[in-house]
Amino acid sequence: MRAFQWPWQARANQRNQIQAASPSFYGMWDAVARFAAEIRASDFMAEMIRRRDAYDGSVGVMGALDCATLYALTRWLRPAVIVESGGFIGMSSAFSLKALTDEKLATARLYSIEWSEECEHGALIPDNLRPQFMPLRGKVEDFLKRDELPSSMDMFVHDSSHSYRHMLCATADCLCRMTCR
Ligand SMILES: C[S@@+](CC[C@H](N)C(=O)[O-])C[C@H]1O[C@@H](n2cnc3c(N)ncnc32)[C@H](O)[C@@H]1O
Repeated sequence: MRAFQWPWQARANQRNQIQAASPSFYGMWDAVARFAAEIRASDFMAEMIRRRDAYDGSVGVMGALDCATLYALTRWLRPAVIVESGGFIGMSSAFSLKALTDEKLATARLYSIEWSEECEHGALIPDNLRPQFMPLRGKVEDFLKRDELPSSMDMFVHDSSHSYRHMLCATADCLCRMTCR
């Protein structure tokens, strides 16, 4: 019988047990990496980068690598309800919507919250992806306070203010509404 175990051995054993117990968790990342590689090489990515570069005032949109990861996670999760804070001109929204379309989730919806009156909310989103886009103008914390967001959400994308207070408040509240799978 072994009486002593180095901490690193214990951690390795625990990792092995988790891996053996939940292969789907590790398989998830293979699928996500495949979807991300697919969209990075796609005409859609090229078109979105062209739209972003042609748009005057696109500074601050989600980067291409993050968009590919968001697309991949959305395809993997297959959510019915996504809530996004910080919709801005819609670079991230376009990739979430593209993933819903590619997964043929015709009844799924993306609720996109944008506070600024000055920005053209969702301007970059291609027309064919718009039917599932639900723009909401205002502060995410106000929508939460007034209980005006879907009571159940499958995915929350935080891309508004990254201040500690805002993240804590908005993310914690949205996490409570998340459906667990
Ligand atoms: C980094 S940009 C979002 C980029 C966007 N996801 C994209 O890829 O096109 C952050 C946006 O969050 C908005 N924002 C900041 N605080 C907010 C709040 N409390 N509620 C809603 N929107 C907010 C800003 O007006 C800004 O347009």
